[in-house]
Amino acid sequence: MRYTTETMLVGLAAFLALLGAGFAADVPFREHAYVLFVVLAITTIVMMRRIDFSGDKMIPLRADTPGDRTGGRVVARSETAVNTASAGSTASIAYMDDVVRYGVIATVFWGIVGFLVGVVIASQLAWPDLNIQPWFNFGRMRPLHTSAVIFAFGGNALIATSFYVVQRTCRARLWGGNLAWFVFWGYQLFIVMAATGYLLGITEGREYAEPEWYVDLWLTVVWVAYLAVFLGTLVRRKEPHIYVANWFYLAFIVTIAMLHVVNNLSLPVSFVGAKSYSAFSGVQDALTQWWYGHNAVGFFLTAGFLGMMYYFIPKQANRPVYSYRLSIIHFWALIFLYIWAGPHHLHYTALPDWAQTLGMVFSIMLWMPSWGGMINGLMTLSGAWDKLRTDPVLRMMVISVAFYGMSTFEGPMMSIKSVNSLSHYTDWTIGHVHSGALGWVGMISFGAVYHLTPKLWGRERLYSLRLVNWHFWLATLGIVVYAAVMWVSGIMQGLMWREYGDDGYLVYSFAETVAAMHPYYVLRMLGGAMFLAGALIMAFNVYKTIRGDVRREVPMGTPALQPAE
Ligand code: HEM
Ligand code: HEM
Repeated sequence: MRYTTETMLVGLAAFLALLGAGFAADVPFREHAYVLFVVLAITTIVMMRRIDFSGDKMIPLRADTPGDRTGGRVVARSETAVNTASAGSTASIAYMDDVVRYGVIATVFWGIVGFLVGVVIASQLAWPDLNIQPWFNFGRMRPLHTSAVIFAFGGNALIATSFYVVQRTCRARLWGGNLAWFVFWGYQLFIVMAATGYLLGITEGREYAEPEWYVDLWLTVVWVAYLAVFLGTLVRRKEPHIYVANWFYLAFIVTIAMLHVVNNLSLPVSFVGAKSYSAFSGVQDALTQWWYGHNAVGFFLTAGFLGMMYYFIPKQANRPVYSYRLSIIHFWALIFLYIWAGPHHLHYTALPDWAQTLGMVFSIMLWMPSWGGMINGLMTLSGAWDKLRTDPVLRMMVISVAFYGMSTFEGPMMSIKSVNSLSHYTDWTIGHVHSGALGWVGMISFGAVYHLTPKLWGRERLYSLRLVNWHFWLATLGIVVYAAVMWVSGIMQGLMWREYGDDGYLVYSFAETVAAMHPYYVLRMLGGAMFLAGALIMAFNVYKTIRGDVRREVPMGTPALQPAE
């Protein structure tokens, strides 16, 4: 491979980062620029070591290896070639799968990082002495957790699976050549810059959009490239129809671009300084933030993962989607309704009452398409329910859809103003978040990782299905513990806050409510640790599968009782 131009560009960027550090207007920017310099300098060195100095571009790699020639065209080993019969002719498509492989590994890696930080912040809430000032205090670690799980774990899962799915369902190679690699590595750089920024105390203070202006600009560039790769692949498709999973992925990519740009409109104090000020203020700012925040849930944590559901569940169950018509209604209803529901995050605030009610009404209506999607996912198993006994990967996918149904019932209920007056600011919200995040987002991603690993590395099957079963139970029990204790602690917290005595004074001080939650915080940490343990088992299983090992084990679902001879 020749990456000469790319290497020079990265080297130049490293030099610019060093200049940024030299001319920095404030200390946080200087520190962050040094971090960027180190990352880019290491990348330059790694890339230089990979440059092919042979000088002859035309020598195909491993061209003499038998089987590497497909349809008269050389296919590098990093690609998966398939022959497809289309319109009577046999065409060869070399899918670009190396980037998907990297994406799967990044998903597992960032998942573990994000869950680990989750367990750490859960412990910090239970035992405040664990706050290590200033870098590892709760205030800095919390956005590290949310970004690591949503953007690093979830984002990598979405990018990797969307690249895989769009190629298969369009029977086309990813458009743009190395642009897909730019998307992958550019996105990793965004994650590293965001994460190190939080620890250094650099933040815009906008929930789920904490990175400062320069990191936001970088993400915009990467995201536009992502959109170009995805759209370009759709345009060059050899299938007349665009499969519904791609609709969901596309809605996710386009909407996130729009949300990201609008929510992050801001004015930097200096072009070599970390601080910027938002273009919005007051209640408009709050509304913009929650328009963004809620649709980040709707389009990042929901629409993209629905794309995953619509591809991987039918594949794993080996059944067609239950109702394709329902999937289309699901799509249009979901994207139309989600975008209006943001104000439910701002009940009883300075936001005009009509806007709060609008948010509530749209949230309640959202229940219907969400459950339509859940039913479609679950009913895809019609006639294949028996597979749940023998296939823990499918079980993982099914439970994720069940959690999707649960959190999309709970959400509309919490959006009702009278319910929200109890749940808002309490741990009930945290319970809701994690039943959606661990149950839906986490489990469907694990299912996709297990489905993809043997396929991408050309293995017959996973290293061990029994380990998948262990993962399944640890994760499920972890979620149940997490969500259940948060419900109890949240409702208790809300009720304690609003309790008045006969004399008209509040019965409990704030500190008393915090003390009452201690046991629940300890239990939440244990639930999270179980979830993390499951993910570690997954990492081991994926590693062994990639190596090509197969565990000798009793097949899943062997009947306990043998029929009489
Ligand atoms: C080992 C698993 C996990 C543990 C132990 C954990 C723990 C926590 C804790 C302690 C908080 C702070 C709660 C508070 O401020 O009161 C939190 C917040 C949050 N976590 Fe997790 N988490 C885990 C996994 C995940 C995953 C997989 C996701 C998403 C895919 C996620 C998304 C979030 C979000 C969005 C918040 C912010 C919630 C809000 O502001 O209302 N977490 N998590
Ligand atoms: C029909 C679908 C849904 C509706 C109507 C809904 C509604 C709500 C409501 C009313 C809140 C509480 C707002 C507050 O009091 O501050 C909330 C919080 C939240 N929900 Fe949902 N929810 C839905 C589905 C989901 C799903 C599937 C996920 C995750 C995958 C999710 C993630 C979150 C997060 C992260 C928050 C916390 C935001 C924050 O305060 O930081 N929601 N949702």
